[in-house]
Amino acid sequence: MENTLSLIKPDGVRRNLIGEVIRRFEQNGLKVTAMEMLWLSKKEAEGFYIIHKDRPFYDSLTSFMSSGPIVALVLRGENAISKTRELMGATNPAEAVKGTIRRDLAESIEANVVHGSDSKGSAIFEIPYFFSSIEIYA
Ligand code: CMP
Repeated sequence: MENTLSLIKPDGVRRNLIGEVIRRFEQNGLKVTAMEMLWLSKKEAEGFYIIHKDRPFYDSLTSFMSSGPIVALVLRGENAISKTRELMGATNPAEAVKGTIRRDLAESIEANVVHGSDSKGSAIFEIPYFFSSIEIYA
């Protein structure tokens, strides 16, 4: 069993896609074990995406991620990290496989509806960014 962090981004919340995104995760065997709606500050978004700090899209990405409320989720299941990434599809919705969240629902590479941890290492950083251990249902 593995835990991963997923975020429903401001575009997903704005477009009423919270239920649709969670439905896809749940119907594919992932369990929601923590959930919170919050509005990140620019600084908090910068901290979360610190790994991208030298990328040209960092400023725009962190402005976008602090432009409205998001939903943070911990998802639990067998191979939860890779399963979540498979369900999300490629970062760029134009390159994502049909039937994935980003291909079906996302508008652009930045407004791509969801985030998911890309490795065990990032899950270990990202889950406690939003949740303490007593907030995660075991
Ligand atoms: P995410 O999985 O949240 O991780 C970093 C985010 O940066 C990514 O999804 C995209 O939404 C965003 N992003 C914006 N531009 C790019 C780009 N050119 N390449 C990769 N990610 C990008």
